[in-house]
Amino acid sequence: MGIGIRPGPGRTPDRPPRVRVVRVIPAWPFAAGLTAVTIAGCAGAQSALDPAGRGAALVANLFWWLVGGAIVVWIAVVLLAYWAIQSRPEGDGTRRRTSLIIGAGAGFPTVVLAVYLVFGLDLLSDLVAPAPGGSMGIAVSGEQWWWRVRYPDPGGGTSGIDLANEVRIPVGSSVQFYLQSPDVIHSFWIPNLAGKMDMTPGRITRLRVEPTRTGFFRGVCAEYCGASHALMMFDVVVMEPSDFRAWLDHQASPARSPSNEPARRGATLFLENGCGACHTVRGTGAEGKLGPDLTHVGSRLRIGAGILPASEAGFRRWITETERMKPGVHMPSFGMLPEPDLDALAAYLAALE
Ligand code: CUA
Repeated sequence: MGIGIRPGPGRTPDRPPRVRVVRVIPAWPFAAGLTAVTIAGCAGAQSALDPAGRGAALVANLFWWLVGGAIVVWIAVVLLAYWAIQSRPEGDGTRRRTSLIIGAGAGFPTVVLAVYLVFGLDLLSDLVAPAPGGSMGIAVSGEQWWWRVRYPDPGGGTSGIDLANEVRIPVGSSVQFYLQSPDVIHSFWIPNLAGKMDMTPGRITRLRVEPTRTGFFRGVCAEYCGASHALMMFDVVVMEPSDFRAWLDHQASPARSPSNEPARRGATLFLENGCGACHTVRGTGAEGKLGPDLTHVGSRLRIGAGILPASEAGFRRWITETERMKPGVHMPSFGMLPEPDLDALAAYLAALE
């Protein structure tokens, strides 16, 4: 409600003016509209208020309790302000005023904040608890500016299998993420599934994720980490357990041989141009570890950490305009290669499904 103040009638020399509240602009339609638009924006693949995981549901629950509390406090403050405007300043209400100031100004906030503190601490202990023993562990390292993801080898190998920029997990299970970074601090956050966790050089942090429904979600880096901080996203797919097992088995297999001529030429060019010094394509001579593992890169939803589709056009653009697409990236652009070579490389990479 918009309010204005103007002196009321009945003004006398020995009596201070009474004020009368008048309505100026009805503000509630704007507030209602704004609330509707805001709440409509809460859904989506990157929203902490559209939870699809246990951790995110706990955080969203806390958020709504905080919003509810804030609304109650706001209404109380508005009523108090209204009362202050209406009441007459004279009189012997000193005692009443003192108790109001102590009660509403100190006592009430202390009680409210203490209740929320206890609520929040209780939630925190639940959020940071490790996943139950036997849960799948996935190691993720924040690189500049992409995500190195290591899954346990479904064949029982001890070294695990390296993937990049995409995380898939089975619905209804507990997954323990082990997070780290070789150089700068990142923050691993899948808003729909869980809280965020820093990735700090020199230590391994943990995050438990327990997805409750299948779907496609988006993960982001939530800590400023350099020039392309805003260009490091990852896709998160929550799958049925049987689909997940089939996917992981496929990801653990070596790269398939190119089946057509442009892709075969691309495979040769890939090695001739030294791409294998930084990238691994399992089953070929490319065994570099600096950049993302590309064994099944064509099967991913996106490349370049969420910025381009994993299509021939996407790969071509990435290798041609790497530094323009992602400022500060460690991979050089290969735009100097002849057009047919770029086409062949793109065909090879897209075929690595
Ligand atoms: Cu990584 Cu911000």
